[in-house]
Amino acid sequence: MNGGVPLVKNICCIGAGYVGGPTMAVIAAKCPEITINVVDVNQKRVSDWNSEDLANLPIYEPGLSEIIEIARNRNLFFSNEIAKKISEADMVFISVNTPTKTKGLGAGLASDLRWVESCARQVAEFAKERTIVVEKSTLPVRTAQVIKSILDSSTSKIDQDKKIKSFSVLSNPEFLSEGTAIDDLEFPDRVLIGGEDKLAIEALTNIYLNWVPKTKIITTNLWSSELSKLIANAFLAQRVSSINSVSAICEATGADVREVADAVGMDSRIGRNFLNTGPGFGGSCFKKDILNLVYICKYLGLEEVANYWEKVVEINTWQKKRISQKIVQNLFGTVAGKKIALLGYAFKANTNDTRETPAKTIAEDLIEEGAILAIHDPKVDVVNIQNDLGPEYKGIDYYQVNNGVWSYYDVIEEAVKGADAIIILTDWDIYRRINWDKITSLMRYPAWIFDTRLVINKENLNNNNLNLWQLGTTN
Ligand code: NAD
Ligand code: UGA
Repeated sequence: MNGGVPLVKNICCIGAGYVGGPTMAVIAAKCPEITINVVDVNQKRVSDWNSEDLANLPIYEPGLSEIIEIARNRNLFFSNEIAKKISEADMVFISVNTPTKTKGLGAGLASDLRWVESCARQVAEFAKERTIVVEKSTLPVRTAQVIKSILDSSTSKIDQDKKIKSFSVLSNPEFLSEGTAIDDLEFPDRVLIGGEDKLAIEALTNIYLNWVPKTKIITTNLWSSELSKLIANAFLAQRVSSINSVSAICEATGADVREVADAVGMDSRIGRNFLNTGPGFGGSCFKKDILNLVYICKYLGLEEVANYWEKVVEINTWQKKRISQKIVQNLFGTVAGKKIALLGYAFKANTNDTRETPAKTIAEDLIEEGAILAIHDPKVDVVNIQNDLGPEYKGIDYYQVNNGVWSYYDVIEEAVKGADAIIILTDWDIYRRINWDKITSLMRYPAWIFDTRLVINKENLNNNNLNLWQLGTTN
């Protein structure tokens, strides 16, 4: 204790996912004097985090394996010992998944808080005398009240040393983006801490002060903090839907969406970030967080506000459909029995995450139309594609297949060989560096490239027989 401010020596983070893993790795690297235990119910995930071979970590993030190598088994530990590690901790982070509810009240909109609630119950049962509980997961505004109620009504009010338990709840939402998570964590735009207990806020602030300048750490009340996270994601997604809506206007008028984005984005009030058109936003959070916001607005009787934000998701769905339709229309109205190379399955570059990837929807549409998809991605595990699209077709005799199928390819040339079309869906750097003249010579003609990420520089393309469609342009 320092003037009443608890000194945090032991952290437990519940949830070893895309947020829990990298976030705790960075805290461990920056604060070697704090012991950090990341716990998870998923045995496989934990053993992957403990894997000797750093290439087998459960998530791919540039810079992550280097940090894991330094901190793991020094002051960073991954295990399934949830009860034990909670009981040893001064501070517990809740970093579990909060997906959209699929059943019951609020299905399709509200966040499913069953995992958060179960964490709160475990903390209530196993925590010691004084514990600071930090919401790291993205949560509906006022969830801290639910967590507090569970903690305060705990049946086991006495800890193992017969001391009376007490809890403080803080909101500390995470703003990292996948693919740049380590950089975002090391150099955050801001760290947001919401809460009522000033000493607990200071204890968490002291951890961040090890590497984040004080001016970047802002404190608010609990509800502003919870709501700000949802609103930040809603604003970012709104920009993507805005530019995607503009992409269709550009295609119809001869304007070029890149030029429009540059011209508009140079206005310092608007800015150029998040104005890259694409096949729609993916990832586990944008859609679920906006739907959650919509649900909250409806619950509050703010129907117009709910409708406003719902449109952001509607445009996103429309963009994916419109791309599938463009492909089919350009390939003479049918893709049945045609080999189509699909380059990129992750929802964005530099991640192996496929949650809500636009590639899934577009692949499903094309398989429904009878296409033979040859999917390539440098990092995605084929098991994730199987979970999305069903079993992989491993037959050799392609053109004898009567219905839509897909197969996975490690080598781009193999995926492209004999294909009628290439669709670029993820902005991986390796796709920017492709020698298109060489690659397209392997295709069946007439051949098409559908570039939904604008990775191709048309000037470098000398193959006059090739048809190129680039999103948001009249190419
Ligand atoms: P994730 O699914 O990758 O990881 C969550 C982990 O929690 C899983 O491994 C799961 O097994 C574990 N878990 C669930 N319930 C548990 C319990 N009771 N005890 C122990 N382990 C349990 O999810 P994620 O992508 O890390 O997201 C976590 C939260 O962070 C979500 O609320 C999300 O909205 C938010 N968030 C995510 C990102 C991102 O980039 N993925 C960024 C900012 C915020
Ligand atoms: C996003 C936010 O950027 C993070 O701040 C937030 O913490 C996180 O969600 C979360 O809460 O989960 P993330 O989903 O990892 O991060 O990735 P983004 O870079 O935001 O991209 C989201 C999607 O929008 C991707 O499919 C991406 O390709 C697309 N996008 C992004 C565009 O199509 N155009 C752009 O200009 C930017």
